[in-house]
Amino acid sequence: MSESATEEKTQIIETSEGTFTLRLTLEDMGSIYPGMIRYKIEVLHGTETVYNYAVNSYEIPPGSLFDTRKTAEIVFARLAQDVSSRPHLYTRPRVFTRPLPGYKVDVVILQGSPRRFGNSAKIASWCDDEVARAGLSSRIFYLQEMDIRACIGCYVCYDQGYCPVEDDMPRLIRALETASLVVVCTPVYTSTVPAPLKAAMDRCQWLHAREKVLGAEVHARGLLIAVAGRRGKEAFTCVTGVVNAFMGNLGIRPVEPILIGDLDRLRDVANIEGLEEQIRASLRALLVTADEG
Ligand SMILES: Cc1cc2nc3c(=O)[nH]c(=O)nc-3n(C[C@H](O)[C@H](O)[C@H](O)COP(=O)(O)O)c2cc1C
Repeated sequence: MSESATEEKTQIIETSEGTFTLRLTLEDMGSIYPGMIRYKIEVLHGTETVYNYAVNSYEIPPGSLFDTRKTAEIVFARLAQDVSSRPHLYTRPRVFTRPLPGYKVDVVILQGSPRRFGNSAKIASWCDDEVARAGLSSRIFYLQEMDIRACIGCYVCYDQGYCPVEDDMPRLIRALETASLVVVCTPVYTSTVPAPLKAAMDRCQWLHAREKVLGAEVHARGLLIAVAGRRGKEAFTCVTGVVNAFMGNLGIRPVEPILIGDLDRLRDVANIEGLEEQIRASLRALLVTADEG
């Protein structure tokens, strides 16, 4: 039980499989979001926790039939009934938080353009190559080619630190959780980032939940490299805001972005004198400081 939790209700259930205890606790999660509370139900067989359930107040939309407390009480009553009638199902712990698949990398590169061989992809490959030259590991996530669905705003990730939507997100979360540098390579689309990148950023709310619920820590630095058709800084106003918000939410510390405009005229980033070297040099500088912690 966490320090901010208070015990609300306990029920002892004697069964043919031994003694079970059901415990309902209330946690104040106001440090994450205003007014957020979470009810947790633990089923213990002897002293061992064999089942966990949680529901938080942000999961319950306004106007719902039941509020958070009522929902927790209904689940508590159902669990009490289930443990009494089928105790054999509760004699061993059941695992509800799966380990995340995928692998650790030093640098995560989010490639936001749908164009496999476009400007953002080219920049992503320069970054990837520079990481390899430094003897570190990296992975480019081509977001358009991944199955990443839009966040459904269910807030279930704030219960156990796991998102219930099943798609390709877990390996991205795993990589972000361990990376020391996150590079976002993206074109400007209708003043902001392309939809697949926006979907991935929204779904990273899950990583925010993992940090808050499980204490997972992200120490990465973040670099935005954006390209736009138009000239001038205004083309990037929204993109920088969106990407900064994404990084800030996860505790990723952004460095000065690299913003490349006028591509409607110039067409290809490879034709911009000195740009590749500038990007490679920025990466090298960040990799050195990332290495030093
Ligand atoms: C759907 C769409 C929307 C775009 N919206 C903007 C925009 O709002 N502002 C801008 O400056 N360029 C805009 N562009 C131009 C792209 O940012 C530009 O072509 C960029 O170089 C594409 O990058 P990529 O080669 O990595 O795909 C848009 C392009 C597309 C296809």
